[in-house]
Amino acid sequence: MKPTQTSSISGFYNLTVEQRLQQLYELSWLDESDLRFLRGLGNLSYEQANHMVENVIGVYGLPFGIALNFLINDRDVLVPMVIEEPSVIAGASFMAKLARSGGGFHAQVDPPLMIGQLQILGLNDLHNARFKILAKKDELLAEATQIDPVLSALGGGARDLEVRVIEHSPIGPFLILHLIYDVRDAMGANAVNTAMEKIAPRIEKITGGRVHLKILSNLADHRLARANCTIPTDRLAFEGYSGKEVRDGIVAAWAFAAIDPYRAATHNKGIMNGIDAVVIATGNDWRAIEAGAHAYAARNGHYSALSVWEISATGDLVGSLELPLAVGIIGGATKVHPLARLALKLMGVQTAQQLAEIIVSVGLAQNLAALRALATEGIQRGHMALHARQIALSAGAKGEEIEKLANELITQGTIRIDRAEEILKSWRNIRDNIG
Ligand code: MEV
Repeated sequence: MKPTQTSSISGFYNLTVEQRLQQLYELSWLDESDLRFLRGLGNLSYEQANHMVENVIGVYGLPFGIALNFLINDRDVLVPMVIEEPSVIAGASFMAKLARSGGGFHAQVDPPLMIGQLQILGLNDLHNARFKILAKKDELLAEATQIDPVLSALGGGARDLEVRVIEHSPIGPFLILHLIYDVRDAMGANAVNTAMEKIAPRIEKITGGRVHLKILSNLADHRLARANCTIPTDRLAFEGYSGKEVRDGIVAAWAFAAIDPYRAATHNKGIMNGIDAVVIATGNDWRAIEAGAHAYAARNGHYSALSVWEISATGDLVGSLELPLAVGIIGGATKVHPLARLALKLMGVQTAQQLAEIIVSVGLAQNLAALRALATEGIQRGHMALHARQIALSAGAKGEEIEKLANELITQGTIRIDRAEEILKSWRNIRDNIG
């Protein structure tokens, strides 16, 4: 990516898909082979799909869009997003524009440390067994690191080991061992699961117990990503709302999510709209990210908002977001899926940590988009046009009918499939009668 490239491209929304591709090509965001993939010619083949999972009979498509205006750690980024929900990409792009006016997003990511767990059963002397394992910590870390010579050559491997005594459980007391493993640019599930399975017999020998489960934890709380942004209050003003009203409305909306799990679930869903879309675009495991995010949101014993919105000393709106982000740029679908490869290339990321910096920033932008809408005009207005288009498509509209039917539904104020079908049928009857 050229350092002079900007992610702010005016009028992009109004172009056709082909014109957008041309514009990105002219701005050197994409090259010819990227265009070929994006036009569908290089998308996931049956052959590739068949090697990814079992019993393949087809390939499922989803819209692949880009969010504009993102400035993250002083770098312009075009963010690929794969999502079926209207308004998400537009919302992220618009909020990135507001954040840009306050210096963009600042993101930091912890080292790529994953947790592998062993459940050790059949022990009476739990504290003594814990002591025995910790006495051999250095040896065990060295052994666990050797299990993956490729990863260890890249600087990865076992970093720490913790043993937790569980005094009470539905099956009585047992031990849990956590192996903290640096997985470098991988998501890490394969490396960690292999290490846990290989190290288990040694743990049985040391403790005399029986290792039952051997698996990574998706609560990757050593691998946190955090982002913040400052939105100048005057930039929040729109239509009849003053900047201060919008700012205070956003803070009040956040406070609701901070104390109420029913609201926090929806608040966090809005954050995950942005996060999952980039995670999916890059071929990463979004179920792992979802599991980690929600477990982290409940880490203090009650489920709460993942983000915080407050007012700075200068009166501006400041947002921050922190969550575990176990994403990789090597292995799995990130390497196999042609569009996942293109997505990573488009963002110019060289490490998994850089990818996480982008993802956490998009999550924060998405949260702002939702709160701004909810605290002012409500979310339905912004959704209306795209929702109407989706209803028109589901009703069977084709070509020019789609836009026309969507506009008609909005004008009538009834965006429902039954009404869309009726209108379409009446138009087609008229056309057939005339023809
Ligand atoms: C809809 O997909 C997401 C929102 O519900 C998020 C929120 O309520 O904060 C709008």
